[in-house]
Amino acid sequence: MKRKGVLLILLALLSAVLCAADMGSSAIIVYFSATGNTEKVAEELSALTGAESIAVRPDDTYSREDLNYRDGNSRTSEENADASARPAILPMEKNPEDYDAVFVGFPIWFGDMPKVLYTFFDSYDFSGHTIHPFCTSGSSSISRAVEHIMEMEPEAEVTDGRRIATDDISGELQDWLESIQ
Ligand SMILES: Cc1cc2nc3c(=O)[nH]c(=O)nc-3n(C[C@H](O)[C@H](O)[C@H](O)COP(=O)(O)O)c2cc1C
Repeated sequence: MKRKGVLLILLALLSAVLCAADMGSSAIIVYFSATGNTEKVAEELSALTGAESIAVRPDDTYSREDLNYRDGNSRTSEENADASARPAILPMEKNPEDYDAVFVGFPIWFGDMPKVLYTFFDSYDFSGHTIHPFCTSGSSSISRAVEHIMEMEPEAEVTDGRRIATDDISGELQDWLESIQ
């Protein structure tokens, strides 16, 4: 009888340790932002979750002319037209592969994620990790980008993702976080 009691206490202790380990499962926020909108969302997400946010930085930053999507010859238009374009990115401050959950934020360009995100996903293997994509945009949805992330990270769990409207960042993020918990 006494032995059974000790066993039960040990089992309770073990389950407490396993629970604590699970709560400690880690998350990081990775984002690219050319004009600051996605960065604001990433900062708010960091405040809400306590996860650190780190930027994907292109080696060659995008100038105002580069960002002119109305000009078919601009850098972004040309990158968009080239399926193999992989603009170089600077080394990341942290290795995102060290985290269980990776929030990845970006602006929508031409209905998709910018090509620097393709470079990012080419650079890391998120097999067995969870990716939570989020974006900002004029109006376009995140769905095409999410499909491409799934293709590039077939062994990751990629959640539906969320476009965050910038007029109520905190409210939108809270709603999204509740839905993915
Ligand atoms: C090159 C380029 C292409 C864009 N294409 C789209 C688009 O297809 N659909 C859309 O809704 N918004 C589009 N936008 C608007 C951006 O998604 C939006 O302004 C976003 O919030 C910018 O985020 P950032 O400030 O973090 O760079 C585009 C902007 C740029 C610069």
